[in-house]
Amino acid sequence: MSNLTDKLQNITKLKSGIQRLTLTDFRNYKNLRINAEIAPIIITGENGSGKTNILEAVSFLTPGRGLRSAKLSDIKRIRNFDEDENILAGDAWSVAADIMKNDEEFTIGTALQKVTREDTEDEGLHSIDRRIVKINQQKISQQAELGKYISAIWITPQMDRLFLGGPQPRRSFLDRLVYAFDLEHAKRTANYEHLYRQWLQLIKSGCQDNNWLKSIETDMAALGVAIAAARREQIARLNTFIQNEPDDVFPDVRLELAGTTEQMLDKEPAIKVEDFYIENLQKQRQNILYNDNVDGIHRTDFKVFFKKKNMPAELCSTGEQKALLVSIILAQTKCQILDKGFAPILLLDEVTTHLDIQKRDALLTKIKDLNLQAWITSTEPQTFKVLQNNAQFFRIDNGQLSE
Ligand SMILES: Nc1ncnc2c1ncn2[C@@H]1O[C@H](COP(=O)(O)OP(=O)(O)OP(=O)(O)O)[C@@H](O)[C@H]1O
Ligand SMILES: [Mg+2]
Repeated sequence: MSNLTDKLQNITKLKSGIQRLTLTDFRNYKNLRINAEIAPIIITGENGSGKTNILEAVSFLTPGRGLRSAKLSDIKRIRNFDEDENILAGDAWSVAADIMKNDEEFTIGTALQKVTREDTEDEGLHSIDRRIVKINQQKISQQAELGKYISAIWITPQMDRLFLGGPQPRRSFLDRLVYAFDLEHAKRTANYEHLYRQWLQLIKSGCQDNNWLKSIETDMAALGVAIAAARREQIARLNTFIQNEPDDVFPDVRLELAGTTEQMLDKEPAIKVEDFYIENLQKQRQNILYNDNVDGIHRTDFKVFFKKKNMPAELCSTGEQKALLVSIILAQTKCQILDKGFAPILLLDEVTTHLDIQKRDALLTKIKDLNLQAWITSTEPQTFKVLQNNAQFFRIDNGQLSE
């Protein structure tokens, strides 16, 4: 057994994952309860039966807006026309889970809560949606806290086009990879985005208050440089891991960051880059009246290459692009196990699409060998022959689950 396999198994012999999952008024589920094993969990069913909804529910046990980046209010179950009108659809939704982290048991609950607030402008009462989170029945104020108990990594069908379109989804993907190692990163990116919007709005509305603008620019620069540094660290971590532990089936990737701030950090100390960032924002104040092309970490791109072919991912074939994505996720998973000391949950929605049979079976076998919990969906039950005796199989028909 290789050294790496040894190290991974030493950690994953302690179980981490969900033991019991309960959904209430979540998407197409009025009430669903699943007793899950720490193993590959295969969910098959027709289109629209509710497979992705289950994975989305699991993703809500981690910080953020889930694997569909959905609006909280869209998740609340919409009642069917043929349903008894006396059954209330409820005003909120919830996901609850009994989880294990390295054999230790916890409970996590999350739900939509409607909060009524008075609006100072029109003096009316407004209801806003908020997600509340509880760990062991205790309400927590920071979602990032969840990251200490549970972590999830996902691949969704939308990501089949990750390398093709504009940089925004790639940047978000990279930032999610960073969150797992740096729980503050999510807060930093959210704060940065908030400041950036505020700054744009102030300038466009003709604000002349130099001190106010300067204080926002200073905060943006400090956050921006911290975000860029964390992204660089994550890219370096994954590149080094892939260099040292190349996969035998999935292609080696080379990862790069294309962003002025990230590149400047190669040569200059952070404090100098921060000064430059402030100066640059000041200089660009005038320009944004004509266009929104302000340079900064909100424009960074995440570049992926098929290393051996020296081919940018966007020029690779569809199946190759999927294989590159799998390579990144496998490396991230292993790095996370080693660094954080517990296994993440994998959420793999239609992951086998575009992979040839060799790669498909290799991926499923690798997941099984990682000894962690992976929720895997497909419309085709035959896809999973290699896991016949090593996985938990569920079938969904129209929101009804059977094992
Ligand atoms: N808020 C909601 N209330 C009730 N049903 C919803 C809600 N949001 C989505 N749905 C429905 O849930 C059903 C299942 O969706 P889901 O995405 O889980 O299907 P799926 O099994 O993954 O299908 P596919 O194989 O096409 O990916 C869909 O019919 C969808 O319209
Ligand atoms: Mg689906």
